[in-house]
Amino acid sequence: MARLKTAVLISGRGSNLQALIAACTPDFPAEIVLAIANRADAAGLAHAARAKIPHRVIPHRDFASREAFDAALDAALGAAGVELVCLAGFMRLLTDGFVARWRDRLVNIHPSLLPAFPGLDTHARALAAGVRITGCTVHFVRAAVDDGPIIVQAAVPVLPGDDAERLAARILAAEHRAYPLALRLIAEGRVRVVGRRVEITGADPPSQYIWQPA
Ligand code: GAR
Repeated sequence: MARLKTAVLISGRGSNLQALIAACTPDFPAEIVLAIANRADAAGLAHAARAKIPHRVIPHRDFASREAFDAALDAALGAAGVELVCLAGFMRLLTDGFVARWRDRLVNIHPSLLPAFPGLDTHARALAAGVRITGCTVHFVRAAVDDGPIIVQAAVPVLPGDDAERLAARILAAEHRAYPLALRLIAEGRVRVVGRRVEITGADPPSQYIWQPA
């Protein structure tokens, strides 16, 4: 079976990139063919280097406009034959043109149960709002920030004594399961966008789960 050619775009640590690389064993229906960072200091590219996955920095600062940067991204993705793009802590707004061009082939992970708490400072805002349950979401990208049809969600509790850092670490562990699950579902051809919603065929694996202590 041909494996879905996947690119991962990062800006920093790259722990989700690492989780996706780890998931993509030879029997997994997707393979990571390219990792791109928009910053030269993105430590996460080391995960791609270690796994001998083609990787490169495309520094957004080298481009005069968002359009020019996105065109360079698009060219790199096209040259690598990429079929699906995973944003994994890619902290750069993409142009409407890029998002439209990659519609339903561009996914993102966000550390909340969207549509709650899109944008920055997610964990601090969840704590400030006093929610008891939060989590993470993998979704198709639309023009608005952290918006689009939801593929996978994981629920994670807020526990007594949490600060943003502790909560972020608990959610991150869930992200590392949710993103490979979403990639598997897409690569198996089981994910279909219907209006604003995603339909998933087949019952197993589920497209949501509840966090459990390790
Ligand atoms: C992750 O928590 C991801 O959900 C978040 O950035 C972190 C990247 O960590 N993304 C967003 O907030 C997007 N709005 P990583 O570099 O270790 O994968």
